Amino acid sequence: MEEKRKTSLKIENLTKTYGKTTAVNDLSLDLKGGDIFGFIGPNGAGKTTTIKCIAGLLNFEKGGIQINERDSALYPDISKKRMGYVPDSPFLYDKLTGREFLYFVGRIYGMKESDVEREIDFYSKIMEFSDYMDSRTEEYSHGMKQRIVIASAFIHNPDILLVDEPMVGLDPKSGKIVKDLFVNVAREDRILFVSTHTLSLAEEMCNKIGIMDKGNLVYFGSIGDLKDKIKKNNLEEIFLEITKSND
Ligand SMILES: Nc1ncnc2c1ncn2[C@@H]1O[C@H](COP(=O)(O)OP(=O)(O)OP(=O)(O)O)[C@@H](O)[C@H]1O
Ligand SMILES: [Mg+2]
Repeated sequence: MEEKRKTSLKIENLTKTYGKTTAVNDLSLDLKGGDIFGFIGPNGAGKTTTIKCIAGLLNFEKGGIQINERDSALYPDISKKRMGYVPDSPFLYDKLTGREFLYFVGRIYGMKESDVEREIDFYSKIMEFSDYMDSRTEEYSHGMKQRIVIASAFIHNPDILLVDEPMVGLDPKSGKIVKDLFVNVAREDRILFVSTHTLSLAEEMCNKIGIMDKGNLVYFGSIGDLKDKIKKNNLEEIFLEITKSND
């Protein structure tokens, strides 16, 4: 059994291009266990690209990513096991039930059957999907799908949760369930890295934020420090001020 390492995520000088487009330009940031990090920025700023690079789904030209102080390029499998990823468009296998999907994901991560079953019970209770666990996911509404996909990213007890736009299309109750789960993540000394356009969510939940604009990280730090610096009262006004050259 591998020794438990301190949770950390360090990105150093990450640059990712698509042809002539520089989607992420020389991005560096450092997070540790307990951080809830809100990654915000206009459409096309490079948020999803960054998250996919961290998740190990995209190659990049320059820079490095360290997961728990280990280079993810040198240790891709261990790094992926320590992370959970919720993509911006949730993917499920239509013909599997929610329970079967979670079981499948847990087993892919190498979990024992009894551990997967215990975690499925746990998440179906706290995320309130026990009633539809045994229906095929093709019958689910968007919010039901999203809850199962989010649970699937937590099932193997990762240290770092990468979540791309979790709130789109969720009703207030589903939104609250997801938010409570996220806040609990930090209590357990994990890192939550969440990209969102819901600025109120970032403001309420995150101890650190990063603002991306055209591939550049234009701010990284606490919301309080940012308010002092920009002299505005809420994150929406700050966001519009910082990214106004986009118009
Ligand atoms: N597969 C791709 N091929 C070519 N260009 C891409 C690809 N994916 C993204 N891009 C470009 O990279 C840039 C960053 O896109 P990205 O999806 O990372 O932005 P985002 O911040 O997640 O935006 P949104 O808020 O709309 O989700 C954009 O200019 C986009 O057009
Ligand atoms: Mg995106």
